[in-house]
Order: sequence, then structure tokens, then C-alpha cells
Amino acid sequence: MHLIIDEENCSACEKCITVCIRDALKLEGDHVVEVDESNCFDCGQCMAVCKTGSIRLKIYQDQEDRIEEYNQREIPISYEDYIQFLKQRRSCRWFLKRRELSSEDYEKLFEAAYYSPTAQNMQDVEFVVIKKDLDEFLNHIYDIIKVEEDEYFRIAQFGDYLKHPENYKYNPFLWEGKELILTFAKDPMDAIIASTRVELAGYTLGLGGFYSLFISKADRINHDKLMEFFPEIDPDKHMYSVYIIGYPRVSFKRTIPHKKIKVNYK
Ligand SMILES: Cc1cc2nc3c(=O)[nH]c(=O)nc-3n(C[C@H](O)[C@H](O)[C@H](O)COP(=O)(O)O)c2cc1C
Repeated sequence: MHLIIDEENCSACEKCITVCIRDALKLEGDHVVEVDESNCFDCGQCMAVCKTGSIRLKIYQDQEDRIEEYNQREIPISYEDYIQFLKQRRSCRWFLKRRELSSEDYEKLFEAAYYSPTAQNMQDVEFVVIKKDLDEFLNHIYDIIKVEEDEYFRIAQFGDYLKHPENYKYNPFLWEGKELILTFAKDPMDAIIASTRVELAGYTLGLGGFYSLFISKADRINHDKLMEFFPEIDPDKHMYSVYIIGYPRVSFKRTIPHKKIKVNYK
């Protein structure tokens, strides 16, 4: 059984039964019970909707300090603030050299991913911060992606940079970046959703960064070899996002127009 139900306190309103997509609850007399052989996947919709707070989830008993009451009608940011926030987002490749992210910064960033939705509530997202092992990691990436260097001048340039960094003003993959956040998951959407939340949380902390196409290619080119660098991660997970992060040393002054968004209504 997955649920702890306070039967005395249950008002039998059946809201939990309505929201459960796994038919894991039923009414028994004057209260709800979890059905035998329950197909519950611990999504917590029943717990979140319960007016009397009568349902808890067994697997989260050690995290009950995470439970907060809120009023769904009180939306904490306005549409205008949200759009303004998105307008001010820019990829940043130029960073303060002497200001690294603190462990508190990282904790705050990953807190933004804690509430991400995941396919079938798998909660399969896992992050890696690359900082100390950056050189080793970049060499490993190059060993994988060099098969595409005839196709992409940037990869060839990166290979040359690794051999002769003294000839370059910037790292052609990282520019001035020195810290990377990699997002792994089984499902690509889970990873992308979570990494976007981390990215956006960064802007609220005065951080900036950009995603890397070339580094993320490594997973698509040779996943098994990439995972040799990450023996601690389930090899069924893929590196779906690579984000370079830091404290910006440039500030942007205006928005830039984009191609009009195409939307097809059918
Ligand atoms: C999936 C993805 C991969 C990207 N790869 C790189 C990259 O390898 N190097 C880089 O400098 N910028 C990279 N960018 C940043 C884009 O170049 C940038 O989003 C685009 O130029 C528009 O600028 P803006 O983000 O400031 O609006 C990437 C962005 C995305 C979304």
C-alpha cells in the first residue's frame, strides 16, 4: 500500500477519487480506502486535493517538512512579470573570472527542479556539476565527437584548442565558462523540463549561461562511451542537456526581435 489514510478525519468528499488516474482509491462506508493491489504511482494528487489533509504518501514520510499549504487562486507572479522575465533572458557566454557559484547557489538552482513533472512520475532526472574535472571531461567529450569534425568546423577548432590552448583567446565550446550543469534522465522531456527550470532559476539569482549543442552531441554519437565518465549514473539515462553557467560580466540593454512564433490550430 502506498497511502496512509486518516479514516476518522476523511470527509468522504471523493475529490481524491476524482483526481486519481490510477483508480487507486474507493469509498468504503464513510471514508476512502486504497484499493487492494493498488496501481498508485505516488503522484500525490489525492494528497494535494484533500480538504481535510487526511492522505499522506508512505514514500515521502521522511520529507513531510516539504508539505506546504497554498491557495491555488493566489498566483504568485503576474503574466506581465513572467513575460518580462522571459524577455530579459539572453544566452550569456562571458563571465566574471573570480566569481564561482557557491554551494548555496547550486542548492537553490536544483531546488527549482525538485518540483518538475516527469513522465509516469518517474522522477528520473539527475544532475552533474562539472567544475573540478572540467579538463578531463572536455577531453572525453572531444574523443567522442571528433568523428564529426569534418562536418562541424567548431569541433575541429575545439580539438585544436585542446592541443594548443595558448593559441586561443577563448575556449570555442565554453567561451569564458568554467562550470557546467549536465542533466540526465531516461525520458528526454523530463530532462529538458528540469534543466529549463534550473536555467530560469539562475536568472533570478543574477546568474547567466547558455546551452551547448556540441557537448550534448556526445550522448547521441556514443552514449556508452560517454557514460564511462559517469559510472555512478544508471546507463539507461541520457545526457539530454548541457548548460554552461556563471556570473555574467556583460549586461544586456535591450530585447532582440525573433522570428514570429508559428502556431497551427487544427
Ligand atoms: C539547444 C541549444 C544549443 C545551443 N548550443 C550553443 C553552443 O554550442 N554554443 C553557443 O555559444 N551557444 C549555444 N546556444 C545558444 C544559442 O546560440 C542562442 O540561444 C541563440 O544564439 C539566441 O540567443 P539568445 O539565447 O541570447 O536569445 C544553444 C542554444 C540552445 C537552445
